[in-house]
Order: sequence, then structure tokens, then C-alpha cells
Amino acid sequence: MADRIVELISQDKVEARIRELGRKISEDYAGRQIRLVGILKGASFFMCDLAKQITVPVTIDFMQVSSYGGQTESTGTVKIRKDLDESIEGLDVIIVEDIVDSGRTLAFLGDFLKSKGAASIRYCTLLDKPERRVVDLKADYAGFEIPDRFVVGYGMDYDQKYRNLPYIGVVEQTNE
Ligand code: IMP
Ligand code: MG
Repeated sequence: MADRIVELISQDKVEARIRELGRKISEDYAGRQIRLVGILKGASFFMCDLAKQITVPVTIDFMQVSSYGGQTESTGTVKIRKDLDESIEGLDVIIVEDIVDSGRTLAFLGDFLKSKGAASIRYCTLLDKPERRVVDLKADYAGFEIPDRFVVGYGMDYDQKYRNLPYIGVVEQTNE
């Protein structure tokens, strides 16, 4: 079985939307500074592009968590695999994710970063699958709402593959 990737959102559309998100965030945080916390590995591509579109001062950090036992299904428990490098005490934090699915990862991280003393926390995600939500979690900034399909590209993987695709696609299996 080979994988065939069908484009869902083009590179141009993704890039244009990230410019809009950067503009909006820059307006909302005018006169302030932002600590972006990206969730490895998926959000890294989006976060780099987003950070370049933000015009107020930005510092960055990364966390890594594991919430998926298998390849495409959430296990419900979130484990920290890499903690923050820097303190976020008193800072305005935006957590940057590739995609919100059940919402468990961001809900967990929001609580965790509040407990670390952030002054404020917002959520920014490139993609949102609202149909799949299990916990009450709303992203403050969301690039695109998508239907319940498993997507790859722009940082997102299927079995660690396809993160480097410059567009968002859906994986289809063929009999080749
Ligand atoms: P949640 O905790 O269920 O919201 O899951 C969020 C995480 O699941 C994301 O950070 C992704 O790593 C992963 N994920 C959810 N849906 C997809 C998808 O369609 N493609 C790739 N990864 C996904
Ligand atoms: Mg992820």
C-alpha cells in the first residue's frame, strides 16, 4: 500500500492566513511582549512562520508532550517529554499548536502554564477540528477549521512522515 497525499489547503493559502494571524496578534498585543511556546514537533514549522509575522517583541520556547498512544488516536493522558527552558513567570504567553483535535493537549498545557505563573495565556493553532472536541477548549487564534480528516504537512505527520510538505494534505491509501 502506498500513500497518496491529496491537497486540502494550498501553500499560498496557509502563508496568507499566517500573515493575517500575525497581524491580528500584533494588534492585540500592541505595547506588550509575547512569549511563544511551541509544541514540538508539529507546531515548529507554523511557529517559525508566525513569529516572523509578529511585529511586537517575541521570545520563544518549546515543550514536547505525548498524547497519542497509537498513530492517529488520542489516549487521553498527556505526558511532558520536554519542559520549558525558561521561566514564564509574569509573562504573556501564547501556546502555539499545529492542530486542536480532542482539545486535551491544549487544555492540559493551559493549566500547566498557569501553574507556572504566566500573566496570561492564549491559544493559537494553525488548524482546528471542532467536531472532534472532547474537552471545552476554544482557540483564541485559529488558522482554519477543517472537517474530521487526518491531515499532514506544514509540520504535521503520519508516522513521522510528511512534516516537510509546504501545504496541508489528506493521506489516502492506494493499492499501488
Ligand atoms: P488533541 O490533544 O486531541 O487535541 O490532539 C492534538 C495533537 O494531536 C496535535 O498536536 C497533533 O500532534 C495530533 N493530531 C491531531 N489530529 C491530527 C491530524 O489530523 N494530523 C496530524 N496530527 C494530528
Ligand atoms: Mg502535536
